[in-house]
Amino acid sequence: MKKKLYFGRVKSRKISIIKESSFKKYLKTKNINRLNSKKKLILEIGIGMGENLIYLSKKNIKKNIIGVDPFKNGMVNVSDYCINNNIQNIYLYPYVFQKFINKFNKLRFDIIYVLFPDPWPKKRHKKRRIINEEFLKTIFAILKKKGKVFFSTDNLDYFMNVKTIIKKFSNIKVKKINKIVTIKTKFYLKAEKKGNKINSLLFSKN
Ligand SMILES: C[S@@+](CC[C@H](N)C(=O)[O-])C[C@H]1O[C@@H](n2cnc3c(N)ncnc32)[C@H](O)[C@@H]1O
Repeated sequence: MKKKLYFGRVKSRKISIIKESSFKKYLKTKNINRLNSKKKLILEIGIGMGENLIYLSKKNIKKNIIGVDPFKNGMVNVSDYCINNNIQNIYLYPYVFQKFINKFNKLRFDIIYVLFPDPWPKKRHKKRRIINEEFLKTIFAILKKKGKVFFSTDNLDYFMNVKTIIKKFSNIKVKKINKIVTIKTKFYLKAEKKGNKINSLLFSKN
């Protein structure tokens, strides 16, 4: 039996036929297979509504940025923004990260963001969390030397768990970040509204 890799919603609000069709066109024109490999590359896993991806695209106009997430409303939100604002450096992959990595295992990244991954707070659901030892092995394998990974969460148990797992990686330096690592995403704002403490880590590869 195939292992289930995604437990969230693929769609929330209805997406108009026009937006859906321009999203499909966007995916064809911004094909990840045709990326300029000489440019620096940033990856965001779990983009949500894509606020960080859009922010990064403007801050790093000479770099290419790939967003991976099966959540279609977020993907369409980003493609729509890129089309209307002539943003050229965002590439989208609307499926799970595990599928992305099977397909594009040759790509190497300068920076990777994993912001507020689904926390799955119930004990019986913890196995669903995207960050585990295998996931970290995978992202460190596709991270360039001196590359960086940013991770934020407002779930203390998830944070402590990642801090424990990361000790197994001797070539990775870990730093606790006490300020915001990028802009305030939807889930950053949600955490802030609830009064939750946000914990962030920076992993760098020696
Ligand atoms: C809690 S949201 C956080 C979204 C965004 N990073 C933010 O800070 O607002 C987690 C996101 O991870 C995505 N996600 C869950 N499992 C995933 C997977 N296996 N691969 C890629 N994205 C995934 C979900 O669809 C969702 O959009």
